Amino acid sequence: MGGHWRQGLRSVLLLSIACVSLHSSNGFLQKWPVPYKRFEFRPKTDPYCQAKYTFCPMGNGDGSIPVMKNEDIIQVYRLQAPVWEFKYGDLLGHFKIMHDAIGFRSSLTGKNYTAEWYELFQLGNCTFPHLRPNMEEPFWCNQGAACFYEGIDDDHWKSNGTLVPVASMSGVMFNSMAKWIKEDNDTGIYYQTWNVRASPEFNSSVWFDSYDCASFVLRTYQKLFELGATFNRKVQTNYTRLLLYSGEPAFLGNGTEIFGQHGNKSLALDIRKFYFLLRPHQSWKELLLSILDIYYKVAVDKNFYFFYNFEYWYLPLKFPYIKVVYDEIPLPS
Ligand SMILES: *[C@@H]1O[C@H](CO)[C@@H](O)[C@H](O)[C@H]1NC(C)=O
Ligand SMILES: *[C@@H]1O[C@H](CO)[C@@H](O)[C@H](O)[C@H]1NC(C)=O
Ligand SMILES: *[C@@H]1O[C@H](CO)[C@@H](O)[C@H](O)[C@H]1NC(C)=O
Ligand SMILES: *[C@@H]1O[C@H](CO)[C@@H](O)[C@H](O)[C@H]1NC(C)=O
Ligand SMILES: *[C@@H]1O[C@H](CO)[C@@H](O)[C@H](O)[C@H]1NC(C)=O
Ligand SMILES: *[C@@H]1O[C@H](CO)[C@@H](O)[C@H](O)[C@H]1NC(C)=O
Ligand SMILES: *[C@@H]1O[C@H](CO)[C@@H](O)[C@H](O)[C@H]1NC(C)=O
Ligand SMILES: *[C@@H]1O[C@H](CO)[C@@H](O)[C@H](O)[C@H]1NC(C)=O
Repeated sequence: MGGHWRQGLRSVLLLSIACVSLHSSNGFLQKWPVPYKRFEFRPKTDPYCQAKYTFCPMGNGDGSIPVMKNEDIIQVYRLQAPVWEFKYGDLLGHFKIMHDAIGFRSSLTGKNYTAEWYELFQLGNCTFPHLRPNMEEPFWCNQGAACFYEGIDDDHWKSNGTLVPVASMSGVMFNSMAKWIKEDNDTGIYYQTWNVRASPEFNSSVWFDSYDCASFVLRTYQKLFELGATFNRKVQTNYTRLLLYSGEPAFLGNGTEIFGQHGNKSLALDIRKFYFLLRPHQSWKELLLSILDIYYKVAVDKNFYFFYNFEYWYLPLKFPYIKVVYDEIPLPS
């Protein structure tokens, strides 16, 4: 009995050691989804990255958020509108590609405000890097940031999207939120387009979460909820997400480790080849049109070199490879 028990314990131990080595890349147990890395401060953007459209033209230059009176009651609105504003006709209308933002309205002053989080250099630059001559390492213009400005453009949100009240809170809570948005903006600096999961099943493993306009809205709702805001949970809240489906990802290393002097030359070449085919696109529309190309490429090769936290991962892609979904993520309760 004793012997069997010890034998049993030994195999449990062996088993757990095996699990550790199976799931670790650097000798530690890999945590899924991989936590999005926070930085101590936001670095200046590289001069190579040139914005086609000015970031946050209506915001205060210093990003400041007005202070509300403590006794104020602030209405919170869910704002959502299609990304391409139908400029391109109905061609891609069946994809629900929505941009998300949050609106606020002060009862005391009647003034209203919009908060959103988006790419400094547009979506394409956040999804795929530039391959620059004389530079081994792919170059990313992938910063994203919060933009806060006075006003809510009702027509923009209402006509083909959503403008609905979802919560209310005090001025005190608003001011705490403003402080949090600043911190969040200084420490969460880059945009991440893709969600990576094991399969389309509801409870499948999540390997990586996106970090985009919708995740800002979700984080802010959660923060407001923790601060004591009351939500109207009857409102259904769906969000657009771009998904990749993959087996367990394998860690490859950061730019220096792969492309530096002591890097792995064949891996470096493979990654450059991969990104050569998937270069930055200017807009959501172009990205979507090229999703067919991307789909074809990844469905054939089943390879994806994924960039997250300024490090590269290998994704062994699985059917259905890529999907655009518009699923519900309920308001906090
Ligand atoms: C993407 O980055 C490139 C390189 O800086 C820049 O030329 C281009 O304007 C950017 N695209 C947009 C839409 O901002
Ligand atoms: C967030 O950071 C960006 C980039 O530095 C800045 O332009 C913007 O004003 C900041 N937003 C807020 C709300 O602090
Ligand atoms: C926001 O303020 C503008 C200007 O006063 C007004 O036209 C608009 O209806 C307001 N929207 C909301 C949702 O409060
Ligand atoms: C809403 O959609 C209609 C029909 O596609 C279009 O004519 C209109 O310009 C859109 N409104 C806005 C504010 O984009
Ligand atoms: C997911 O749920 C299904 C049924 O609801 C179950 O059969 C399956 O084992 C679950 N998978 C995981 C990874 O939890
Ligand atoms: C890449 O990783 C190495 C080893 O972990 C580290 O020393 C180096 O600072 C990292 N480089 C960058 C650019 O993060
Ligand atoms: C270099 O990368 C390739 C994949 O491209 C891999 O098969 C090989 O084992 C790596 N070599 C070293 C020394 O890590
Ligand atoms: C919103 O999401 C729910 C559940 O994820 C789904 O059943 C519903 O069809 C979605 N609504 C729209 C308009 O797509």
